[in-house]
Amino acid sequence: MLPSPPEPRIQNPADVYRSAIGGHRPVSALAPMQAVSSLEYWQVMHRRGGPDLYFTEYFRVHSTSRLDRFILRSIDENETGKPVIAQMIGNDIPCLVATAKELAHHPIAGIDLNLGCPAPIVYKKCAGGGLLREPERIDAILGALRQAIDLPFSVKTRLGFDTADEFPELMKVFARHDLDLLTLHGRTVKQMYRSAVDYRSIRMAAANLPFPVLMNGNIHSAKHALTIQKDIQGAGWMIGRGAIRNPWIFDQIRQEQSGEAIVYPTGQDVLAYIQDLYDTLRYKTVSDEAHITRLKKYLNFIGLGIDPQGHFLHAIRQSRSEQHFFDTCRGFLNHSDPMTLEPMDIPMKPRDVLAGVHR
Ligand SMILES: Cc1cc2nc3c(=O)[nH]c(=O)nc-3n(C[C@H](O)[C@H](O)[C@H](O)COP(=O)(O)O)c2cc1C
Repeated sequence: MLPSPPEPRIQNPADVYRSAIGGHRPVSALAPMQAVSSLEYWQVMHRRGGPDLYFTEYFRVHSTSRLDRFILRSIDENETGKPVIAQMIGNDIPCLVATAKELAHHPIAGIDLNLGCPAPIVYKKCAGGGLLREPERIDAILGALRQAIDLPFSVKTRLGFDTADEFPELMKVFARHDLDLLTLHGRTVKQMYRSAVDYRSIRMAAANLPFPVLMNGNIHSAKHALTIQKDIQGAGWMIGRGAIRNPWIFDQIRQEQSGEAIVYPTGQDVLAYIQDLYDTLRYKTVSDEAHITRLKKYLNFIGLGIDPQGHFLHAIRQSRSEQHFFDTCRGFLNHSDPMTLEPMDIPMKPRDVLAGVHR
């Protein structure tokens, strides 16, 4: 496939973002995903329709941190024509404020604070989801950042650390600050990625918070997106793993919203998507094997939508060479049948914390 030409850069991304989240139509966002989100990955998504908003993976912020150049590149060279929101993670107020100010010199639409990362290495340092155990500290951080940031400022959070019973207290803290947006992943930190998503709590947040709420967690199809929207009346959807598996999902949501028939990709379209990931994400100096190892981060999610027995996933995880990788892909995908790409109930190993059935 020929690469599509870059979209013209947006003149004022913050205004575009503000009017998107303040508009009547729900917005769609591609979730921040560490080691997945990148300039090149966004190009691949954009070629298949893409979301209204892109969030960077988190910039780590601490006393000796510098802005990560790889993440900055996705902001500075963004070719999608859509606003990019820069996400930060950390708990040191002066450093967070200084980093936010530094980020504001780049063409970002807004700043987002991560209050949901469930990785023990992060939460044990009382950052990301770890901060949910200390609402007073969150209060201080949000107060300082809101005061320092002229751009739109948002938070991405979970329902609590141990249980969703913590959420009403957390909502009071969020409501004290004039946030532009809150993204709510309907799980606790302890629930990681694989339990059911608590959409009732997201509905409560959307109904009671004085700013827009983006719904997040297990959105795997346009129909599901519209069903939860009818119930929750949120500001829109943030989609992560469902979009890696099905990059057409944002277009499909737009089709469903406007009452058009949903266009499902064929096996050959999915094959072309994997080829596009392979070519676009490739670093020139990296061996085939190292490149394939990196691509497995994406294929682990795509594989859940290919066959119910998990044969594709198993074979792709064994792949070491380009030949084997694409022979496997062609073996399963060289057909013209439509594919819904919803996750199937494939047995997972306990270490597959991010994958597996996410119902
Ligand atoms: C590989 C991966 C990396 C992630 N990295 C981040 C991150 O950098 N910042 C963040 O706020 N959330 C991160 N998340 C969480 C997602 O943004 C999202 O909240 C979560 O996956 C639930 O949405 P989903 O069911 O649509 O995937 C990550 C998730 C995955 C799967």
